[in-house]
Amino acid sequence: MPSPSVLIAACSPRKNGNSDIAARILQESFSVPCAARRIADAGIRPCQSCGHCRAHPGSCALDRDGDGAAAIFSLLMRARLAVLVSPIYFYHLPAQAKALIDRTQRFWHLEPQARPLGKTALTAVLLAGRPSGEKLFEGAERTLRYMALSSGMDWIPALCLYGLDEPGALAGDAGSMGRIRQFAQSLERGMAGK
Ligand SMILES: Cc1cc2nc3c(=O)[nH]c(=O)nc-3n(C[C@H](O)[C@H](O)[C@H](O)COP(=O)(O)O)c2cc1C
Repeated sequence: MPSPSVLIAACSPRKNGNSDIAARILQESFSVPCAARRIADAGIRPCQSCGHCRAHPGSCALDRDGDGAAAIFSLLMRARLAVLVSPIYFYHLPAQAKALIDRTQRFWHLEPQARPLGKTALTAVLLAGRPSGEKLFEGAERTLRYMALSSGMDWIPALCLYGLDEPGALAGDAGSMGRIRQFAQSLERGMAGK
């Protein structure tokens, strides 16, 4: 089994909602090998600020007892591109996505040249219920951009989709589904250097 070129990390706790559908559309649109994971089901515990990664850069004291962060980071290290697909909760990301982001603190403590995600680019598809709002995606995008920077990843600006609230909203919105397909195609062209 080849290493996946793309990791799709679906971050909604709601099963079969808009993020899961968007993740499926992305997976179908990429022609390169993809791995898709539901972050809310991965069992990622939140950072406890225990100081372990400060003393042991690159490692985390929570990587045991069935915690799921290390498995996601292992996929992330092998992928050339990671696409985080997430709803907006209170102008930000759901707690399950934020838990994953906070667990990258282990990489922040490494010297920049030792960060293991230097060959991976990060982007996102963000979905919100509100039909408009200039600052709706600002908090999530800022955090993701900083996660990329502090982990040594390149950040590619996110695709932001408005007006998707009910779980079937995306499936009934041909325009938004088309934008997700086009986004995947442009990301793949970028990976191929075209
Ligand atoms: C706790 C919670 C907070 C939310 N906060 C916002 C918000 O601040 N702005 C917004 O536009 N939509 C908000 N929504 C709506 C979701 O972004 C929307 O329903 C989205 O489509 C859910 O994606 P999913 O189907 O993948 O779970 C919120 C939903 C929940 C459950």
